[in-house]
Amino acid sequence: QKTGDIAALLLAHYAVHARDLPWRKRPGQGWPDPYHVWLSEIMLQQTTVMAVMPYFARFTDRWKNFAELAACDDADLMAAWAGLGYYARARNLLKCARTVVSEHGGELPQSEDALKKLPGIGPYTAAAIAAIAFGQRAVVVDANIERVVSRLFALSTPLPQAKPEISALMDRITPADRAGDFAQAMMDLGAGICSVKAPACDRCPLADGCQARQDGNPEAYPVKQPK
Ligand code: ADE
Repeated sequence: QKTGDIAALLLAHYAVHARDLPWRKRPGQGWPDPYHVWLSEIMLQQTTVMAVMPYFARFTDRWKNFAELAACDDADLMAAWAGLGYYARARNLLKCARTVVSEHGGELPQSEDALKKLPGIGPYTAAAIAAIAFGQRAVVVDANIERVVSRLFALSTPLPQAKPEISALMDRITPADRAGDFAQAMMDLGAGICSVKAPACDRCPLADGCQARQDGNPEAYPVKQPK
């Protein structure tokens, strides 16, 4: 399978099966609200989509943009975050909102490099925001994407040593013009079809070109580190 086919096949599947998540595109508009993308990516760092949903709804209802969040009371924010865990995220969330207001006029910067300088935004989150909110060609790799790529190419290297190889492959298969959709389509594939146990290859748009499936044991990837 040519690597160009992967994006075309996956994006065609995504056009029909994308999860309808509230931080994705706004009705009638081409792009999602960068504030929504940022907030969702921070919340999703260590928390599942299911658990994030009610928090995302409450936060965006109460604080509609960076300026509103930056002006909130620290204690109110910590109380609203209660239950999501990893409270450093909440403290950085507020620091980031205040920096966006004081240094960037209330709008996120668009480049990966500028995003990485903000509190709470590491390499993964910077790439995700740049691609999803701003259409930059960034290479996005999370745990779901690591698994999907490991299987597509039947990578024999175990994690974490395979990370550079996975990034290079993700770079090769990411389309220039739709990096954000492609990353989210890969995440959806990993969450719904290319699951850790018992992947649903019969429903996978990439099954024909998947090396692990051809070898007969997709569950063996990513390869486990020998103890
Ligand atoms: N996990 C992290 N970011 C996500 C996104 N944009 N869509 C679905 N799952 C995600």
